[in-house]
Amino acid sequence: MTRTAAVTGAASGIGQAACRRLLEAGWTVFGLDNARDRLNAVAGGFSAYQGRFKPILCDVTDAARVTAAFQEIAAVSPVLNALVTCAGVLRTSLMEDMPIEDFDLVLNVNTRGTFLAAQKALPALRAGATPENPSRVVLLSSVAALRPKIVSGAYAASKAAVSQLCRVMAAEWAPSGVLVNALAPGTVDTPMVAAVSDPSASKGYRPSGVSPVGRIAQPDDVVDVMMFLLSDAARYVTGTTIPVDGGTQAAFIPPGSNL
Ligand SMILES: NC(=O)c1ccc[n+]([C@@H]2O[C@H](COP(=O)([O-])OP(=O)(O)OC[C@H]3O[C@@H](n4cnc5c(N)ncnc54)[C@H](O)[C@@H]3O)[C@@H](O)[C@H]2O)c1
Repeated sequence: MTRTAAVTGAASGIGQAACRRLLEAGWTVFGLDNARDRLNAVAGGFSAYQGRFKPILCDVTDAARVTAAFQEIAAVSPVLNALVTCAGVLRTSLMEDMPIEDFDLVLNVNTRGTFLAAQKALPALRAGATPENPSRVVLLSSVAALRPKIVSGAYAASKAAVSQLCRVMAAEWAPSGVLVNALAPGTVDTPMVAAVSDPSASKGYRPSGVSPVGRIAQPDDVVDVMMFLLSDAARYVTGTTIPVDGGTQAAFIPPGSNL
């Protein structure tokens, strides 16, 4: 039986890779994003999947629009087996200089948008849940939730909040068959990171550099763990934030170490 997922932030990076992998595995995917042109381009690239990718223009900070988007989805598919929330933004600045609009945007998209998508998807997730196959929610947190970094304080706060929401949603929703987990990637090679890696535009932001594993992540490194969380093997896993960071936050490596 075809399974159905909704993915926010579907038009780029980790969300786009998540959609591709789900389509390859036979899922029907509703891809939500607020970037109209990129979403249309991504949908064009998925045209080989026989109409199983359904783009939905949606700003996750707009409560009315998120409600309407999940009503549109329910009209086509009353049952959702999974929600993956990848919509996110990164704005960098020292706290003392951070524009309030940037602070509000980061919290609104990353935290409030994640909450809204999960709350509005819940009825369809519950409708899709069975004792043998609970529905799944995978939230994109970040290594920043576990080990914050200077110049991205608002981002770290927004992702720490996502990980806490994950724990509470997991406990509240497990009895109705909905499992909720979060992923905490380290640096991933996506347009989000490229946008702040240019020193002239970065407001002092510095990438974390390679992980102890010796490289930064590719989107599929993260999506592999997402696919595990959506699989039967993860049927008893809920309320966790799983680092997918090549050991980035496992231990402090003093400057000048010969590693
Ligand atoms: N790239 C990394 O290093 C990294 C590390 C840890 C966590 N993450 C998280 O993973 C998720 C995906 O990040 P990415 O690197 O793929 O970023 P990305 O910038 O490539 O993609 C993010 C997508 O979210 C969409 N989006 C932004 N605001 C939106 C809104 N208001 N409504 C709907 N869609 C919106 C964007 O249009 C974009 O398509 C984010 O939550 C990010 O914080 C990324």
